[in-house]
Amino acid sequence: MADVLVTGGAGFIGSHLVDILVKNGCRVTVVDNLNAGIKDHIHPSATFYKLDICNQEISGIFEREKFNFVFHLASRIGVQRSVKDIVLDNKADVLGSLNILINCWKHKVEKIIFSSSGGAIYGDVNQIPTNENTIPLPVSPYGIHKLIFEKYLNYYHQVFGQRYIAIRQSNIYGPRQFNGGTMGIIHVLIDNGINGKKSFITRKGTQTRDFLYVDDLIDAYISAMDTDYNGVLNVGSGAETSILQIIELIKCELGCNIEFEFIPSRPGEQARSCLDVSKAKEVLGWQAKTSLKEGIAKTVVWHKSLKH
Ligand SMILES: NC(=O)c1ccc[n+]([C@@H]2O[C@H](COP(=O)([O-])OP(=O)(O)OC[C@H]3O[C@@H](n4cnc5c(N)ncnc54)[C@H](O)[C@@H]3O)[C@@H](O)[C@H]2O)c1
Repeated sequence: MADVLVTGGAGFIGSHLVDILVKNGCRVTVVDNLNAGIKDHIHPSATFYKLDICNQEISGIFEREKFNFVFHLASRIGVQRSVKDIVLDNKADVLGSLNILINCWKHKVEKIIFSSSGGAIYGDVNQIPTNENTIPLPVSPYGIHKLIFEKYLNYYHQVFGQRYIAIRQSNIYGPRQFNGGTMGIIHVLIDNGINGKKSFITRKGTQTRDFLYVDDLIDAYISAMDTDYNGVLNVGSGAETSILQIIELIKCELGCNIEFEFIPSRPGEQARSCLDVSKAKEVLGWQAKTSLKEGIAKTVVWHKSLKH
């Protein structure tokens, strides 16, 4: 039975991951400061520490629990938040992440799997879909901090032999998503649609994203535990979808109009994003299974269930 730490395990993606790890028979520990996470979403079988990843007490948890695997998901998450407070973002996402990585190495963790961002790390590039050989030139502090930590992972691998995979995941959506802003656009549009509230759309809705349903991402995480590969991997649907197309799909599913207004674009916002996922297929034998229509339908059902 593997001992697994999930940082950010009270969050949207982390809580789904914890559920599957527990189901697969792992002993799971969650570290989360609950800044954005929800305690009730943590599986009752998991051991929970309400702690910031920057806290030096983390070392004692590693010492006690002797993890085989660490999934590092804790992050302030969000482009606009990182633009507003670049120093705070650096502290949590770079220094906090380093605290986790140093402990992985000190306490002989077999592998660390990191939630990087395929949507923010490449910046505005010519090659769409974008593969892992593209030089990342992030246009937001959020993307820069993800890239910096990937470099630290690579350093620990090259110099000390620490095994790792950085999953450059695309825009993830599904039940339990609570983050606002562009990263949670499907959640925001559904929530506003159900509540008859107006949504604000930048770039006239022509910006594109690669949307992946959360269960498909979790499948990739689980496969990442078993491979010998070390390095970065794009994980996404491989399909490019505009926000206007998303609005149409959600309208169809909700069966009502979605009111929106165009606003100017914001700093750090990319025009296009779509990932080439052929390497993940080759290395993990993984591919997305959920169509956008099906994923949106499941997400709408979940949103509606909240209202009862
Ligand atoms: N949601 C997406 O579309 C997306 C896309 C690419 C990458 N990612 C990455 O996936 C990971 C999970 O994202 P999510 O969508 O579940 O976000 P989320 O905000 O729901 O989850 C992040 C969790 O980390 C916790 N956290 C934040 N800062 C912390 C700190 N300093 N110490 C301890 N806990 C802290 C929060 O309380 C929260 O529970 C993040 O690393 C994010 O950058 C997400």
